[in-house]
Amino acid sequence: MVEMKNISKSFGAVRALIDVNLTLHKNEILGLVGDNSAGKSTLMKILTGAYNADEGEIFFEGSPVRITNPRESRELGIEMVYQDFALCGNLDIATNIYLGKWPTKKGWLRKWFVDVKTMDAESWRILQKLKVDASSVKLKVEGLSGGRQQSVAIGRVISFDPKVIILDEPTANLSVTATQQVLDLMLELKNTHDVAMIIISHRLQDIFAVGDRVMVLKRGRRVGERVIKNTHEQDVLSMIVQGDAYEQSRRD
Ligand SMILES: Nc1ncnc2c1ncn2[C@@H]1O[C@H](COP(=O)(O)OP(=O)(O)O)[C@@H](O)[C@H]1O
Ligand SMILES: [Mg+2]
Repeated sequence: MVEMKNISKSFGAVRALIDVNLTLHKNEILGLVGDNSAGKSTLMKILTGAYNADEGEIFFEGSPVRITNPRESRELGIEMVYQDFALCGNLDIATNIYLGKWPTKKGWLRKWFVDVKTMDAESWRILQKLKVDASSVKLKVEGLSGGRQQSVAIGRVISFDPKVIILDEPTANLSVTATQQVLDLMLELKNTHDVAMIIISHRLQDIFAVGDRVMVLKRGRRVGERVIKNTHEQDVLSMIVQGDAYEQSRRD
């Protein structure tokens, strides 16, 4: 689905990414882990066009692509759910799902008006599809629990009908129940909607609950990766903390 090859990125003297490779297969959930400042968000922002890499190549569905801005990434079918939801709390669920791309009515004058009926119906359909149990799309987002807000943020991304979704710490600051809702939602998307996902999380139990594979970054370098069903949390934790030294010791 996605291949990032030899990606490097510096911010002034800070080398955020050094020669990093990443592969995401079709219909796969890939966990991306590493300590603070390892380069996880930077790598994903390069994939969404928020940042441009200094070096490296990106392939999408086998073809080389140039992603220089978020629009190009969206056109390929890549969407990112940001850490802080990026929703407007004082607006309702439907308006948030369609933020900035509201459907308009038909007709020369009417086209200046948002087609609220269509927007509400489509938003309701998306919530049903995601099995989110909100009673109405007219509820204000700020009154929703953290888990439901995260679901609305994911619903917004789904409305673009993406092939790849990147989730940056989707369960940070969520309750146990809300975390489970988000993880269930991810599995639902993978199993019934054929979406491939990359999840950044510092909670290894979440990665192990939904992931197929996990890749570890440390100080801007790729340490290695594991197939989830062939590993355990302690193994991945050692990769995160000790990095190359741990991988070397395993080979010796
Ligand atoms: N816009 C930016 N300007 C300057 N430095 C940045 C910027 N974005 C990230 N960095 C730096 O790049 C490194 C990697 O950051 P980041 O990708 O956010 O790591 P992670 O998401 O793994 O915590 C850090 O040292 C961070 O300070
Ligand atoms: Mg980050």
